Amino acid sequence: MEKREQLYEGKAKKVYATDDPNLVIVSYKDDATAFDGTKRGTIMGKGAINNRMSNFLMKKLADAGIPTHFVEELNDRETLVKKVQIVPLEVIIRNVSAGSFAKRYGVEEGIVFDEPTFEFSYKNDDLHDPLLNTSHALALKLATKEEIAAIKSMALKVNDVLKAFFAECGVRLIDFKLEFGRLPDGTIVLADEISPDTCRFWDAKTNEKLDKDRFRRDLGNVEEAYQEMMRRVFGGQQ
Ligand code: TMP
Ligand code: ASP
Repeated sequence: MEKREQLYEGKAKKVYATDDPNLVIVSYKDDATAFDGTKRGTIMGKGAINNRMSNFLMKKLADAGIPTHFVEELNDRETLVKKVQIVPLEVIIRNVSAGSFAKRYGVEEGIVFDEPTFEFSYKNDDLHDPLLNTSHALALKLATKEEIAAIKSMALKVNDVLKAFFAECGVRLIDFKLEFGRLPDGTIVLADEISPDTCRFWDAKTNEKLDKDRFRRDLGNVEEAYQEMMRRVFGGQQ
């Protein structure tokens, strides 16, 4: 597989073309941003951790019947994935109140929901990723009804699989963000990444935060939290 020109640079990843028009290489950076890119920093080792963790979780999800973009881990930071057209929706599932949910609705963090919540944001940096509902997504033609139904059922299944897996690692899966993409034939697959950048993880015993909130909120021990999540996920397998 030959790596060719850079197609795109995002806040946390770069994407490169390959000699196969249906495959691209994702390269994970140590750069961290928060609050629409207004807060910037580096989390040493994050790129390699997110790459390995996301691939491990994507494989687990594929085994559970959820189609993903994952093809092959190439090295520490780089992974070969199927080229998709990203659906411009950030799909957020919450099991416990935290972050923007707690702020928006004026409740404390840590309230355990009877059922997971499901929400979309419009993936649009200029508009600051506004919250939107299904009828808005349809009106804006961001996805079809069928695609939204598929995305919703896949996202809830991802939650079931990941919640159970992280519980075995002594970690509470508080909430997370997913992105989906369309293959050339229109099939919807899970894309982007699943990592401490895109999930909230709390230690099951102490509720200590083991995710990017340590960077967002200047809590310290940011690198240590990412490394701890790596140990929890891979255990003796590292
Ligand atoms: P929120 O509480 O700030 O809306 O975040 C919900 C979840 O989504 C949390 O696990 C962090 C993740 N997230 C991202 O992956 N990217 C983002 O740009 C934002 C705002 C949140
Ligand atoms: N990565 C996003 C940004 O830079 C936000 C976040 O994860 O908090 O805006």
